[in-house]
Amino acid sequence: MQRVFSGIQPSGEAHLGNYAGAIKNWVRLQDEYECIYCVVDLHAVTESFDPATLSQRTLDMAITLLAAGIDPERSILFVQSAVPEHAELTWYFNCVAPLGELERMTQFKDKAARNRQNLNVGLLDYPVLQAADILLYKAELVPVGEDQIQHLEFSREVARRFNKRYGDIFPEPRPLLTPGKRILGLDGQAKMSKSLGNTVSVLAGPEATWDKLRPAVTDERRVRRSDPGEPEDCNIFTIHKAFTPAETREELARGCRGATIGCIDCKRVLAEHIERELAPLRERYRALAANPERVREILATGAGRCRAIAREVMGEVREAMGFLA
Ligand code: TRP
Repeated sequence: MQRVFSGIQPSGEAHLGNYAGAIKNWVRLQDEYECIYCVVDLHAVTESFDPATLSQRTLDMAITLLAAGIDPERSILFVQSAVPEHAELTWYFNCVAPLGELERMTQFKDKAARNRQNLNVGLLDYPVLQAADILLYKAELVPVGEDQIQHLEFSREVARRFNKRYGDIFPEPRPLLTPGKRILGLDGQAKMSKSLGNTVSVLAGPEATWDKLRPAVTDERRVRRSDPGEPEDCNIFTIHKAFTPAETREELARGCRGATIGCIDCKRVLAEHIERELAPLRERYRALAANPERVREILATGAGRCRAIAREVMGEVREAMGFLA
C-alpha cells in the first residue's frame, strides 16, 4: 500500500472549509492507503499564537479528526511536536533548501505582510518543515488543497537536492488534489479561514449554522429572487457539493438557473444536509471530549509508531550525511 501523509494546523474546532476541503477526503483515503495524519503544532508557532490555549486547540483538533472518522486502528494520528525528528530533519533540509525559492513562496509573502511584528525565520522555513513532515515517513502521496501545491513542489525539490548530494533516500512526493472547488468564507471573499472570521465550525449545531448561512454571500447576479443565477459561481453551491447528494443538487441548480427557487430555499436545503452529516460527528466529538485520556492514549500510540519509522529513516540520513555514529 502506498503511504499518504497530511497535516492540519491545531486551530481547535475544524470549520466547514477544513472538513470539506481536507478532513472528509482524509477519511476516504483510509480505504486505499496507509495514512499518517498529523496535527502540525510546530507549524502553528510560526505565527502569533496563545501558548495558554495551544495544547487544548491541539487536543480539540485531534478529537475533531477522530470524530470525523479518522480510524486509529487503520491510520496513524499524532501530534507533530511529539516526534522530535521533524525538527531534526528540518535542520538537515535547511542546508540543501534553496533560499531564493523560500522567499518567493506565495504563502510566505502573504504571511510576512500580515506578521510584520513577528517576521521570524520560522515563517520563511515553514515549507522546509513541511517537506520534513512528509519525507520523514517517505510518504509518496500528500492530499492537499490547491493552495499547498507550491509547498509540495518545494518538497519535491528538497528531496531531489538531498538525494543528489547524499544518495537516493527520499521519494518525490506527489499531491493528491482534493476534489472540488475551494470553499470560500461566508463573505464570499477569501478562503474560509479562522483568522479571517468567516467560518462555520463543524461543531456549531443547527441554529448557529443557520445564523451564519442565512446572510452568506451567494452568486452576485441574484439581486432579486426573480434574477436567475449560476450555481457554479456560488459559494453556497460549492458547499452543497460536499454535503448534498447529486440528485438534489441538480434540482437546486435548475431552480437557481431558472429563478424558481430563492437563495434562502437553497440554503435551507444545505443546512439540512450539513446537519444530517455533522450531527453524528458532534455526538462522537462530545463522547471523546468527555474522555480526553483515551484521546491522549491514541495520540501517544500514534507518536510511538511514527517515532519507530522516523528513527529508522534518520539513521539512514545521518549515515548518508556522514555524521559520527
Ligand atoms: N501547510 C499545510 C496547511 O496549511 C499543513 C501541513 C503541514 C501539511 N505539514 C504538512 C500538509 C505536510 C501536508 C503535508 O494546510
